[in-house]
Amino acid sequence: MTKPQPNETEHIVKNVDLIVSKSDAEGNITYVNPIFVKISGYSQASLLEQPHSILRHPDMPKVIFEYLWKNIKEGKDVVAYVKNLCADGGYYWVLATVKMAKNPDGSFRNYMSTRRCITQEAKDQISQFYKELLDVEKEQSYEASYEMFENFLTKHNIYDNQAFNTYMKSLNK
Ligand SMILES: Cc1cc2nc3c(=O)[nH]c(=O)nc-3n(C[C@H](O)[C@H](O)[C@H](O)COP(=O)(O)O)c2cc1C
Repeated sequence: MTKPQPNETEHIVKNVDLIVSKSDAEGNITYVNPIFVKISGYSQASLLEQPHSILRHPDMPKVIFEYLWKNIKEGKDVVAYVKNLCADGGYYWVLATVKMAKNPDGSFRNYMSTRRCITQEAKDQISQFYKELLDVEKEQSYEASYEMFENFLTKHNIYDNQAFNTYMKSLNK
C-alpha cells in the first residue's frame, strides 16, 4: 500500500470514540472496529493483514515504537501517545493502551490496542517532546535519541512500564 503525503488536516477523535485494533505477533492487523475504519479512511478489507505501520506518521520517533515492542513482547502493557497518519494524509492523536492477550493455556493470542482522545495540553506537550526526539534521531543518530528518551525516563523517576503508563495518563488532562 502506498503511503499518502502527510498534510496538516487534523481528524478529531471524540470523547466517546474508542479506536480498537488487534494484531498477530508481528503487528499485522487481524481486527479493526468500525471507528478505526472510519477515522483511518481505509476500507476494512484493505486494513486487514497489513502491518500497523501503515498508520505510522513521519512525526513519530522510532524510539517510542522500540519501547512499545520491547514491553509488549514481554507481556507488559504500554500506554503511549501516538500520532497516526490517515489515508487522506491527515492525522489524529490518541493515547493508546497496547497489551498482549493470552490463551487459557498461557500461549500468545494477540496484541490489542485501544485508543482514546487526548487533551490539547497533552498534544502540545507530547508533540514538543516527540519533535525533540525526532530532531536528535535525524540530526545525530537513533542511539542519541534513545539516550534522550532514557534521560527523560530517569528525570521523571520512571523505572518500569507501570510508572511510564501512570505518567503518560497523568499528562492527559
Ligand atoms: C496492537 C498494535 C497496535 C499498533 N498500533 C499502531 C498505531 O496505531 N500506529 C502506529 O504507527 N504503530 C502502531 N503499532 C506499532 C507498529 O507495529 C510499528 O512498530 C510502528 O508503526 C513503526 O513501524 P516501522 O518501524 O516499521 O516504521 C502497533 C503495534 C501493535 C502490536
